[in-house]
Amino acid sequence: MKKALIIFGSTTGNTEDMTGIIKTALEESGLETEVKEVTDAAVADLMANHELLLLGCPAYGDDTIDWQLEIGRVN
Ligand SMILES: Cc1cc2nc3c(=O)[nH]c(=O)nc-3n(C[C@H](O)[C@H](O)[C@H](O)COP(=O)(O)O)c2cc1C
Repeated sequence: MKKALIIFGSTTGNTEDMTGIIKTALEESGLETEVKEVTDAAVADLMANHELLLLGCPAYGDDTIDWQLEIGRVN
């Protein structure tokens, strides 16, 4: 079975929700789909054994990186 990997980062949950929707769609298309939160992912995951790699991240404007750090979802 072909494999997909989705690596995502999400602060308020929207990107995480989208990741779940995409995972379901990929699995319905016949791809075995693994999901990793970005802080659990390693560089080696990018080269691991999968045919499809999706990276998901939200856009945050200036001066918000500190805010993301404060709630501990991005490091
Ligand atoms: C403080 C703040 C700054 C944001 N800056 C941007 C931006 O510069 N560009 C943009 O397209 N969306 C911006 N957004 C919208 C977020 O990208 C959007 O809410 C996204 O769905 C959040 O994803 P998450 O729930 O996975 O963290 C911003 C949202 C917040 C709360």
